[in-house]
Amino acid sequence: MTSSLNPSSILQTAFGFWGSKVLLTAVEMGVFTTLGRRRLTGAELGKALRLHPRANPDFFDALVAMKFLDRDGDGPQAKYFNTPEGAMFLDAASPRYIGGILVMLNERLFKFWNDLPEALRTGRPQNEIKHGQKGMFEELYSDLPRLEQFMGAMTGISRINFETFAEKFDFSTFQTLCDVGGATGLLSIEVAKRHPHLTCTSFDLPAVEPIAKKHIAAAGLEHRVRTAAGDFFKDRLPKADLITMGMILHDWNLEKKMHLIRSAYEALPLGGALVTIEALIDDARRENVQGLLMSLNMLIEFGDAFDYSGADFFRWCSEAGFTRFEIIHLAGPSSAAVAYK
Ligand SMILES: C[S@@+](CC[C@H](N)C(=O)[O-])C[C@H]1O[C@@H](n2cnc3c(N)ncnc32)[C@H](O)[C@@H]1O
Repeated sequence: MTSSLNPSSILQTAFGFWGSKVLLTAVEMGVFTTLGRRRLTGAELGKALRLHPRANPDFFDALVAMKFLDRDGDGPQAKYFNTPEGAMFLDAASPRYIGGILVMLNERLFKFWNDLPEALRTGRPQNEIKHGQKGMFEELYSDLPRLEQFMGAMTGISRINFETFAEKFDFSTFQTLCDVGGATGLLSIEVAKRHPHLTCTSFDLPAVEPIAKKHIAAAGLEHRVRTAAGDFFKDRLPKADLITMGMILHDWNLEKKMHLIRSAYEALPLGGALVTIEALIDDARRENVQGLLMSLNMLIEFGDAFDYSGADFFRWCSEAGFTRFEIIHLAGPSSAAVAYK
């Protein structure tokens, strides 16, 4: 008798890294950017990307089968072209490009995750820190191209969440917002674009400030989005009615998380709110695969840092004095957790 049990989901996940590596490589090589709005045969595309003839047609057809590329016709004369999603999110010329996170996954995390067993046995980070003395941000930020790559990665992973947050959250009772760890200023820019009554501050380490200023100027928002440079473990946070932290708390251990929550409480007026945006883990820790994998990624990057659930956030914020809470679902696995003072 044949079993009704099916191994396909086991095999799909087990082989998942093949598909992942094909997509990440395609972004790194600029397949989607090279195509842009054009339609090219496999030979033309391979030549433009300077690939060995053996790459064609397997590499491109694998992308077609995975629905990341489209193809008109079959055989050597068939023309490859971008899908609407590929054109919007993976062509570097698109204003909504998210390829930065795929580039970072390919260049850094793919190899660091190979050391997951060591991370699980030792509780130690497996990134650049493993071979040096510096913390992750110091290490990445000591080299401008790596800092810019990290900033691009943050834009890639956060853009859809910040756009959704700017659309869904009720900003009507707030006048000022400070985005703590604001990176390129993206959250402030997306919120300021849609809510002309708000002024925003993007707060981050000094090395990041020129990058944020450049993005704010490119969006034409210098009059309502300013930058502030500082260290959130050494300096007070700028005062604001609304304090946001996109993927900040998950970078730190519990003691540092509590420091950041207490600093936010101090910087807010009564009625003010702290909002964290993360791949929040569901309270029972059974459903949000991406949130749980993100927490393992925090082990790889920092060791003692971890992701958390809405219930964890509410408990920590109650200890700091916040009184009212809500969760707003954003895109995919991500949510905003809100605590009101
Ligand atoms: C994971 S990134 C998140 C960026 C952005 N908020 C987002 O969600 O896309 C963490 C950010 O915290 C900033 N950061 C790290 N340590 C900091 C510190 N001690 N003081 C201020 N900012 C810091 C980093 O420069 C970086 O921009």
